[in-house]
Amino acid sequence: MKNMVLSESSGKRLSELVSLTDAHLEELHKRALNGTGKQSVITDAMWYSLSAGGKRLRPVLTLEFCHVCGGDERKALSAACALEMIHTFSLIHDDLPCMDNDDMRRGKPSCHKAFGESMALLAGDALLNMAFGVIADDEYLSADTKTALIRELSSSSGILGMIGGQVIDTEYKGEFDDALILDMYSMKTSALLRAACRMGCISAGADEDRISAAGEFAEKLGLAFQITDDILDMTGDERILGKPVGSDAQNGKNTYASVNGIEAARKKASELTDEAYARLDGFKDNGFLRELTLYLLGRDR
Ligand code: IPE
Ligand code: IPE
Ligand code: MG
Ligand code: MG
Ligand code: MG
Repeated sequence: MKNMVLSESSGKRLSELVSLTDAHLEELHKRALNGTGKQSVITDAMWYSLSAGGKRLRPVLTLEFCHVCGGDERKALSAACALEMIHTFSLIHDDLPCMDNDDMRRGKPSCHKAFGESMALLAGDALLNMAFGVIADDEYLSADTKTALIRELSSSSGILGMIGGQVIDTEYKGEFDDALILDMYSMKTSALLRAACRMGCISAGADEDRISAAGEFAEKLGLAFQITDDILDMTGDERILGKPVGSDAQNGKNTYASVNGIEAARKKASELTDEAYARLDGFKDNGFLRELTLYLLGRDR
Protein backbone atom coordinates (compact mmCIF):
# COMPACT_ATOMS: atom_id res chain seq x y z
CA MET A 1 0.00 0.00 0.00
CA LYS A 2 2.24 2.80 -1.22
CA ASN A 3 1.38 6.22 -2.52
CA MET A 4 4.39 8.47 -2.69
CA VAL A 5 2.83 11.65 -4.06
CA LEU A 6 0.09 13.79 -2.62
CA SER A 7 -2.84 14.57 -4.90
CA GLU A 8 -3.24 18.18 -5.94
CA SER A 9 -5.97 18.81 -3.39
CA SER A 10 -3.97 17.25 -0.54
CA GLY A 11 -0.89 19.18 -1.59
CA LYS A 12 -2.95 22.37 -1.40
CA ARG A 13 -4.37 21.41 1.96
CA LEU A 14 -0.87 20.73 3.30
CA SER A 15 0.40 24.15 2.15
CA GLU A 16 -2.66 25.83 3.62
CA LEU A 17 -2.13 24.25 7.05
CA VAL A 18 1.62 24.94 7.00
CA SER A 19 0.92 28.60 6.12
CA LEU A 20 -1.63 28.95 8.92
CA THR A 21 0.95 27.56 11.35
CA ASP A 22 3.79 29.74 10.06
CA ALA A 23 1.70 32.89 10.24
CA HIS A 24 0.61 32.20 13.81
CA LEU A 25 4.13 31.30 14.94
CA GLU A 26 5.34 34.59 13.50
CA GLU A 27 2.63 36.45 15.36
CA LEU A 28 3.61 34.73 18.61
CA HIS A 29 7.25 35.54 17.97
CA LYS A 30 6.44 39.22 17.48
CA ARG A 31 4.51 39.28 20.72
CA ALA A 32 7.46 37.67 22.52
CA LEU A 33 9.86 40.20 20.99
CA ASN A 34 7.84 43.08 22.39
CA GLY A 35 8.64 42.00 25.90
CA THR A 36 12.40 41.56 25.53
CA GLY A 37 15.17 44.09 25.94
CA LYS A 38 18.83 43.31 26.63
CA GLN A 39 18.08 39.59 26.52
CA SER A 40 16.62 39.71 23.01
CA VAL A 41 19.28 37.34 21.68
CA ILE A 42 17.16 34.57 23.18
CA THR A 43 14.19 35.39 20.95
CA ASP A 44 16.58 35.50 17.98
CA ALA A 45 17.82 31.99 18.81
CA MET A 46 14.29 30.66 19.33
CA TRP A 47 13.05 32.15 16.08
CA TYR A 48 16.14 30.98 14.19
CA SER A 49 15.28 27.36 14.93
CA LEU A 50 11.51 27.73 14.77
CA SER A 51 11.59 29.39 11.36
CA ALA A 52 14.39 27.30 9.85
CA GLY A 53 12.06 25.20 7.71
CA GLY A 54 10.65 22.20 9.56
CA LYS A 55 7.98 20.11 7.89
CA ARG A 56 5.38 21.24 10.47
CA LEU A 57 3.94 17.74 10.63
CA ARG A 58 2.73 18.04 14.22
CA PRO A 59 0.82 21.32 13.80
CA VAL A 60 -0.62 20.08 10.51
CA LEU A 61 -1.99 17.03 12.31
CA THR A 62 -3.40 19.14 15.14
CA LEU A 63 -5.21 21.45 12.73
CA GLU A 64 -6.49 18.63 10.55
CA PHE A 65 -7.79 16.54 13.45
CA CYS A 66 -9.62 19.60 14.71
CA HIS A 67 -11.14 19.94 11.25
CA VAL A 68 -12.20 16.28 10.90
CA CYS A 69 -13.82 16.52 14.32
CA GLY A 70 -15.94 19.40 13.08
CA GLY A 71 -13.96 22.29 14.59
CA ASP A 72 -12.71 25.47 12.97
CA GLU A 73 -8.90 25.19 12.57
CA ARG A 74 -8.43 28.52 14.33
CA LYS A 75 -9.50 26.84 17.56
CA ALA A 76 -6.50 24.53 17.31
CA LEU A 77 -3.87 27.08 16.30
CA SER A 78 -2.55 27.64 19.81
CA ALA A 79 -2.23 23.91 20.42
CA ALA A 80 -0.59 23.43 17.02
CA CYS A 81 2.01 26.16 17.61
CA ALA A 82 2.64 25.14 21.21
CA LEU A 83 3.46 21.66 20.02
CA GLU A 84 5.77 22.91 17.28
CA MET A 85 7.60 24.92 19.95
CA ILE A 86 8.06 21.85 22.11
CA HIS A 87 9.15 19.78 19.12
CA THR A 88 11.66 22.47 18.12
CA PHE A 89 13.00 22.61 21.69
CA SER A 90 13.49 18.84 21.55
CA LEU A 91 15.48 19.16 18.30
CA ILE A 92 17.68 22.01 19.58
CA HIS A 93 18.62 19.96 22.63
CA ASP A 94 18.89 16.72 20.62
CA ASP A 95 21.60 18.34 18.46
CA LEU A 96 23.76 19.56 21.36
CA PRO A 97 27.26 18.10 21.70
CA CYS A 98 26.19 16.27 24.87
CA MET A 99 23.34 14.57 22.96
CA ASP A 100 23.69 13.71 19.23
CA ASN A 101 26.31 16.37 18.46
CA ASP A 102 24.84 17.28 15.09
CA ASP A 103 25.90 20.49 13.35
CA MET A 104 23.02 20.84 10.86
CA ARG A 105 19.28 21.06 11.40
CA ARG A 106 16.50 21.99 9.02
CA GLY A 107 19.08 22.86 6.38
CA LYS A 108 20.97 25.36 8.54
CA PRO A 109 23.69 25.24 11.21
CA SER A 110 22.16 23.86 14.41
CA CYS A 111 21.12 26.36 17.05
CA HIS A 112 24.28 25.81 19.13
CA LYS A 113 26.45 26.30 16.03
CA ALA A 114 24.77 29.62 15.31
CA PHE A 115 24.29 30.93 18.86
CA GLY A 116 26.60 28.84 21.10
CA GLU A 117 25.71 26.08 23.51
CA SER A 118 24.44 28.27 26.34
CA MET A 119 21.96 30.10 24.12
CA ALA A 120 20.84 26.85 22.48
CA LEU A 121 20.17 25.35 25.89
CA LEU A 122 18.23 28.43 26.97
CA ALA A 123 16.37 28.77 23.65
CA GLY A 124 15.14 25.19 24.08
CA ASP A 125 14.08 25.88 27.67
CA ALA A 126 12.32 29.08 26.60
CA LEU A 127 10.40 27.37 23.79
CA LEU A 128 9.29 24.67 26.22
CA ASN A 129 7.81 27.05 28.74
CA MET A 130 6.45 29.50 26.19
CA ALA A 131 4.37 26.64 24.75
CA PHE A 132 2.31 26.44 27.94
CA GLY A 133 1.77 30.20 27.96
CA VAL A 134 0.51 30.10 24.38
CA ILE A 135 -2.28 27.73 25.42
CA ALA A 136 -3.04 29.66 28.60
CA ASP A 137 -3.40 32.92 26.63
CA ASP A 138 -5.65 31.52 23.86
CA GLU A 139 -8.69 33.71 23.29
CA TYR A 140 -11.05 31.11 21.80
CA LEU A 141 -10.84 28.17 24.21
CA SER A 142 -12.63 27.53 27.50
CA ALA A 143 -10.65 27.08 30.72
CA ASP A 144 -11.52 23.36 30.75
CA THR A 145 -10.25 22.86 27.22
CA LYS A 146 -7.04 24.72 28.03
CA THR A 147 -6.49 22.50 31.07
CA ALA A 148 -6.99 19.38 28.98
CA LEU A 149 -4.53 20.67 26.35
CA ILE A 150 -1.92 21.60 28.93
CA ARG A 151 -2.21 18.12 30.44
CA GLU A 152 -1.50 16.59 27.00
CA LEU A 153 1.48 18.88 26.43
CA SER A 154 2.92 18.12 29.83
CA SER A 155 2.57 14.35 29.69
CA SER A 156 3.68 13.95 26.08
CA SER A 157 6.83 16.00 26.51
CA GLY A 158 7.76 14.64 29.93
CA ILE A 159 9.44 11.66 31.55
CA LEU A 160 6.81 9.21 30.29
CA GLY A 161 6.91 10.83 26.85
CA MET A 162 9.53 12.53 24.66
CA ILE A 163 12.06 13.12 27.43
CA GLY A 164 11.67 9.55 28.70
CA GLY A 165 12.44 8.24 25.22
CA GLN A 166 15.46 10.51 24.89
CA VAL A 167 16.76 9.17 28.22
CA ILE A 168 16.66 5.59 26.93
CA ASP A 169 18.17 6.70 23.60
CA THR A 170 21.03 8.46 25.40
CA GLU A 171 21.68 6.53 28.61
CA TYR A 172 20.33 2.99 28.52
CA LYS A 173 23.15 0.46 28.54
CA GLY A 174 21.26 -2.87 28.43
CA GLU A 175 20.21 -4.92 25.42
CA PHE A 176 18.15 -3.19 22.74
CA ASP A 177 15.68 -5.78 21.45
CA ASP A 178 12.78 -4.85 19.16
CA ALA A 179 10.36 -4.44 22.06
CA LEU A 180 12.62 -1.95 23.82
CA ILE A 181 13.36 -0.04 20.60
CA LEU A 182 9.66 0.33 19.83
CA ASP A 183 8.98 1.32 23.42
CA MET A 184 11.65 3.99 23.15
CA TYR A 185 10.15 5.23 19.86
CA SER A 186 6.71 5.28 21.38
CA MET A 187 8.05 7.74 23.94
CA LYS A 188 10.57 9.81 22.02
CA THR A 189 8.60 10.20 18.79
CA SER A 190 5.02 8.92 19.01
CA ALA A 191 4.30 10.85 22.20
CA LEU A 192 4.40 14.30 20.57
CA LEU A 193 2.50 13.00 17.54
CA ARG A 194 -0.13 11.50 19.85
CA ALA A 195 -0.40 14.85 21.56
CA ALA A 196 -0.69 16.58 18.17
CA CYS A 197 -3.63 14.46 17.04
CA ARG A 198 -5.34 14.29 20.43
CA MET A 199 -5.02 18.05 20.96
CA GLY A 200 -6.64 18.68 17.60
CA CYS A 201 -9.64 16.62 18.70
CA ILE A 202 -9.71 18.24 22.14
CA SER A 203 -9.65 21.73 20.60
CA ALA A 204 -12.71 20.78 18.55
CA GLY A 205 -14.54 19.52 21.65
CA ALA A 206 -14.56 15.90 20.41
CA ASP A 207 -15.62 13.00 22.66
CA GLU A 208 -13.25 10.57 24.38
CA ASP A 209 -13.68 7.87 21.69
CA ARG A 210 -12.50 10.22 18.98
CA ILE A 211 -9.59 11.47 21.09
CA SER A 212 -8.47 7.87 21.78
CA ALA A 213 -8.79 6.84 18.14
CA ALA A 214 -6.65 9.81 17.09
CA GLY A 215 -4.06 8.81 19.69
CA GLU A 216 -3.97 5.21 18.43
CA PHE A 217 -3.46 6.43 14.88
CA ALA A 218 -0.59 8.67 15.99
CA GLU A 219 1.07 5.93 18.03
CA LYS A 220 1.47 3.77 14.89
CA LEU A 221 2.30 6.72 12.67
CA GLY A 222 5.02 7.82 15.09
CA LEU A 223 6.68 4.39 15.16
CA ALA A 224 6.68 4.28 11.35
CA PHE A 225 7.93 7.88 11.26
CA GLN A 226 10.91 7.17 13.53
CA ILE A 227 11.85 3.97 11.65
CA THR A 228 11.76 5.97 8.41
CA ASP A 229 13.92 8.64 10.10
CA ASP A 230 16.43 5.91 11.01
CA ILE A 231 16.47 4.62 7.44
CA LEU A 232 17.00 8.16 6.13
CA ASP A 233 19.88 8.53 8.57
CA MET A 234 21.51 5.58 6.78
CA THR A 235 20.45 6.20 3.18
CA GLY A 236 19.26 9.81 2.84
CA ASP A 237 20.72 12.80 1.05
CA GLU A 238 21.98 15.39 3.53
CA ARG A 239 21.08 18.31 1.28
CA ILE A 240 17.47 17.20 1.09
CA LEU A 241 17.25 15.93 4.65
CA GLY A 242 18.69 19.17 6.07
CA LYS A 243 20.53 17.28 8.82
CA PRO A 244 23.56 14.99 8.90
CA VAL A 245 23.41 11.48 7.49
CA GLY A 246 25.28 8.80 9.44
CA SER A 247 24.71 10.47 12.81
CA ASP A 248 23.20 7.35 14.38
CA ALA A 249 26.12 5.12 13.36
CA GLN A 250 28.63 7.70 14.52
CA ASN A 251 26.93 7.84 17.92
CA GLY A 252 26.57 4.04 18.11
CA LYS A 253 22.77 4.34 18.39
CA ASN A 254 20.58 1.26 18.47
CA THR A 255 17.86 1.92 15.92
CA TYR A 256 15.27 -0.43 14.44
CA ALA A 257 17.13 -0.20 11.13
CA SER A 258 20.63 -0.73 12.54
CA VAL A 259 19.54 -3.73 14.62
CA ASN A 260 17.30 -5.41 11.99
CA GLY A 261 18.71 -4.15 8.69
CA ILE A 262 17.21 -1.73 6.20
CA GLU A 263 14.92 -4.18 4.43
CA ALA A 264 13.29 -5.40 7.66
CA ALA A 265 12.98 -1.77 8.77
CA ARG A 266 11.21 -0.80 5.55
CA LYS A 267 8.82 -3.71 5.97
CA LYS A 268 8.07 -2.77 9.59
CA ALA A 269 7.50 0.89 8.70
CA SER A 270 5.13 -0.18 5.94
CA GLU A 271 3.16 -2.49 8.28
CA LEU A 272 2.89 0.24 10.91
CA THR A 273 1.74 2.70 8.25
CA ASP A 274 -1.03 0.29 7.24
CA GLU A 275 -2.06 -0.04 10.89
CA ALA A 276 -2.14 3.75 11.27
CA TYR A 277 -4.14 4.11 8.06
CA ALA A 278 -6.76 1.62 9.26
CA ARG A 279 -7.29 3.67 12.42
CA LEU A 280 -8.49 6.63 10.37
CA ASP A 281 -11.67 4.74 9.44
CA GLY A 282 -13.71 6.30 12.23
CA PHE A 283 -13.08 9.84 10.97
CA LYS A 284 -15.22 11.40 8.27
CA ASP A 285 -13.58 13.51 5.60
CA ASN A 286 -10.28 11.70 6.18
CA GLY A 287 -8.91 11.84 2.62
CA PHE A 288 -6.07 14.24 3.40
CA LEU A 289 -5.03 12.34 6.53
CA ARG A 290 -4.99 9.07 4.61
CA GLU A 291 -2.81 10.47 1.86
CA LEU A 292 -0.49 12.16 4.32
CA THR A 293 -0.03 8.88 6.20
CA LEU A 294 1.07 7.05 3.07
CA TYR A 295 3.13 9.98 1.83
CA LEU A 296 5.22 10.07 5.03
CA LEU A 297 6.40 6.50 4.44
CA GLY A 298 8.04 7.51 1.18
CA ARG A 299 9.39 10.89 2.30
CA ASP A 300 12.99 11.91 1.61
CA ARG A 301 13.18 14.53 4.37
C1 IPE B 1 12.62 14.94 13.57
O1 IPE B 1 11.28 15.28 13.36
C2 IPE B 1 12.75 14.21 14.85
C3 IPE B 1 12.07 12.92 14.88
C4 IPE B 1 11.15 12.65 15.73
C5 IPE B 1 12.41 11.89 13.93
P1 IPE B 1 10.81 15.88 11.98
O2 IPE B 1 11.32 14.99 10.86
O3 IPE B 1 9.34 16.10 12.02
O4 IPE B 1 11.60 17.25 11.91
P2 IPE B 1 11.21 18.65 11.27
O5 IPE B 1 10.21 19.27 12.19
O6 IPE B 1 10.66 18.42 9.90
O7 IPE B 1 12.50 19.41 11.25
C1 IPE C 1 15.12 12.37 18.14
O1 IPE C 1 15.42 11.28 17.32
C2 IPE C 1 13.74 12.53 18.45
C3 IPE C 1 13.53 13.62 19.41
C4 IPE C 1 12.75 13.45 20.39
C5 IPE C 1 14.21 14.93 19.27
P1 IPE C 1 16.64 11.55 16.38
O2 IPE C 1 17.84 11.97 17.16
O3 IPE C 1 16.80 10.40 15.46
O4 IPE C 1 16.11 12.81 15.54
P2 IPE C 1 16.96 13.52 14.41
O5 IPE C 1 17.29 12.48 13.40
O6 IPE C 1 18.16 14.11 15.06
O7 IPE C 1 16.00 14.54 13.86
MG1 MG D 1 18.58 11.81 19.08
MG1 MG E 1 19.29 13.47 16.55
MG1 MG F 1 17.28 10.53 13.42
